[in-house]
Amino acid sequence: MSEDESRCEAASHQKTVLLGVTGCIAAYKSCEIVRLLQKAGVRVKVVMTEHATEFVGPLTFRSLTHEPVGVGLFDNPSDPIHHISLAQEADLFLIAPCTANVIAKLANGLADDLLTTTALATTAPLVIAPAMNVNMYENGATRYNIGKLHIRGARIIETGDGYLACGDVGKGRLADVEDIVSAVLDELGLSRDLAGKRVMVTAGPTVEPIDPVRYISNHSSGKTGYAIARAAALRGADVTLVSGPVSIAPPEAVRTVRVRTALEMFEAAQEAFGAADIAVFAAAVADVRPKQAAPRKLKKGEADAALGAIELVENPDILATLASSKKRQVVVGFAAETDDVVANAEKKLSTKHADLVVANQVGEGKAFGTDDNQVWFVDDEGVEELPRMSKERLADAILDKALEFVR
Ligand code: CTP
Repeated sequence: MSEDESRCEAASHQKTVLLGVTGCIAAYKSCEIVRLLQKAGVRVKVVMTEHATEFVGPLTFRSLTHEPVGVGLFDNPSDPIHHISLAQEADLFLIAPCTANVIAKLANGLADDLLTTTALATTAPLVIAPAMNVNMYENGATRYNIGKLHIRGARIIETGDGYLACGDVGKGRLADVEDIVSAVLDELGLSRDLAGKRVMVTAGPTVEPIDPVRYISNHSSGKTGYAIARAAALRGADVTLVSGPVSIAPPEAVRTVRVRTALEMFEAAQEAFGAADIAVFAAAVADVRPKQAAPRKLKKGEADAALGAIELVENPDILATLASSKKRQVVVGFAAETDDVVANAEKKLSTKHADLVVANQVGEGKAFGTDDNQVWFVDDEGVEELPRMSKERLADAILDKALEFVR
């Protein structure tokens, strides 16, 4: 088969999701939905209501999808029945965010714009992720309309609870984008190879207090661990992320346990490890901590002497301790090295009882805080050097490799 033919065949198997975007402040989150669906190998086309274009311009979606974006019923002179071709092309119609108004129209079969006409014309499964103010969401009319759509076979992704853009607190927040994408992939029957698996990830630095304002820590940004947690959630895993203090937002569809010190991280990791199928230790744990933190700030005059005399004690090695009692857990450790990267990683493989060590070079702008990394996989079978790649791609590569060890 020629390269062109195989490209055509791959394209013909590719699923198409038609993403409907309606007029809601959460419309900006649809951009992330596009990106995550594309990452899962799905082709995305976007259709928007006029109101949605007040929040995000069609050009944004056009740039992200490399596809024309439909807004008006009669915008496409080359295709006078645009809603029918869109309806036929879709393997699934996802509307996210979906306003109360559009839900009401869909529930009653109203079709007065391109989005709602396409929804009426398509036979593809319909997935709806509502987003609105809490009172609109709880209004009997909306509940009734959502119920009608559910009975007719639409999959409704329940809204989240929390702080809403209007200032109210309660239900109505667009569901986590990872949950929306997971539901779509599930509906399309696309493999989510970590479904049913529990993944635990430690990430970020730990901080060990010297006094109420000073601490011992390191440069870890948490990006690698967070990328792994997010990738695992997207692949269907139930994820617990044990995170030291970092400045990045936690992935949405992940249980995040925030800790500060190594002892706190140890306790939280221990709790999650028992039930984990895959445990990834990406945290940069401080090896030592001051035996006793001063209860008040050390003043300038006394700090020099006091800092010089700090008594340090060793922190527990979280990875080595937990992995020494591992049963079915696949254990992935990291080795952050400035020199002899692979040799040191090989030592850590056995001393830490890991199934896989991801070795990387740190220092001089390498690894810590960057968006990409170059690593070696070290296991009992040998050493594999990976090319430099984004931490997102690396996260998937680590999970692919970890899956090979699942017992
Ligand atoms: N690790 C851990 N608990 C510690 C120290 C390290 O769980 N107290 C884990 C890290 O999360 C990582 C692996 O052990 O997965 C190796 O960490 P690294 O910092 O490379 O090595 P250290 O064990 O600290 O040893 P060294 O400082 O001698 O390189």
